[in-house]
Amino acid sequence: MDTIKSIGYPIYFSDSLGQLANFIKQSKYSRFFILTDENTGKHCLPLLNEKLAGMENFDLIEINAGEESKDIDFCIGVWKMLIDFGADRQSLMINLGGGVVSDLGGFAASTFKRGIDFVHVPTTLLSQVDASVGGKTGIDIDSIKNIIGTFTQPKAVFIEYDFLKTLPARQILSGLAEMLKHGLICDSGYWSLLKASDLKKPAPELVYYSVEIKNKVVIEDPKEMGIRKSLNFGHTVGHAVETYSLLNDGGKALSHGEAVAIGMICESFLSHKKAGLSADELEEIVNVISGLYPKYSISEDIFAELYTYMQKDKKNQNGKINCTLLTQIGQYSIDHVCTEDELYESLKYYTKIQYATFR
Ligand code: GLY
Repeated sequence: MDTIKSIGYPIYFSDSLGQLANFIKQSKYSRFFILTDENTGKHCLPLLNEKLAGMENFDLIEINAGEESKDIDFCIGVWKMLIDFGADRQSLMINLGGGVVSDLGGFAASTFKRGIDFVHVPTTLLSQVDASVGGKTGIDIDSIKNIIGTFTQPKAVFIEYDFLKTLPARQILSGLAEMLKHGLICDSGYWSLLKASDLKKPAPELVYYSVEIKNKVVIEDPKEMGIRKSLNFGHTVGHAVETYSLLNDGGKALSHGEAVAIGMICESFLSHKKAGLSADELEEIVNVISGLYPKYSISEDIFAELYTYMQKDKKNQNGKINCTLLTQIGQYSIDHVCTEDELYESLKYYTKIQYATFR
């Protein structure tokens, strides 16, 4: 699989950790900081250390695993460690982990001393197909997702498929939601290919194809003025449900992808109602998603709370809730204002769907 060219940086797929070692050897950075969480520190760092054996000037910064780490306190912790370790402007941050590590690490690096360089080594399916590509960095405040952040491109991304081999099934499903989204918004052929594939174990070519789709979108619109909004399909309702779950479900909170899967059902319903998605295609989307993900119980009592999270979504304009919808499978349409009633109707629709499993 060829290296993909992104916005001024390469995304490596073959011998990626070897490529990282070359990148470091050939660079002029003064110091290297590897940001990990407790999981990647245990499962992925040893492989990285093997590749970087004999190299000097590395320091390790470890955060707790989980979305709770993506907040200002952890970010301050990372900045302080950089100060304590004596990081200068010629330092490089290596973000080894999932979306939390790449978002937080990218944000901490892009603001430290007005910005130091960073690279991503994504270790989850979600971060390989989504978070590591396109230069979004950020943290949450009061569980409002990514409300503070920057657009800063990494210097390179190193995608190592082998990291996915030990991931639990739920983590694969989490990334899969973004892959399904890529098919739904801009490639019906890819959607059909995904439907025909073993989605419990997506093949390397599928991961590559998703990255290509995401990369094409962000190259055309790095700052999300138009076409990049397509990537928000499923995320208006999805982020609200994710926030609710993070605040209420403790250790059993929904993963990002599980929440986006719910969001994609609700927003497909809205697409049918407002943007011309046919009833047959709505049913097809619902069948695929409900066959893969367990049902999440959403009672009508929490609709208002979910709506308040949607109102805080950074994608809104003039206080109106703005959704990306589908006109058909493989085609999106941006900037659909959705009313409170319409959003409630979409949540009600979700609650009525029959799923194979419940959580
Ligand atoms: N995760 C959506 C984007 O990168 O724009």
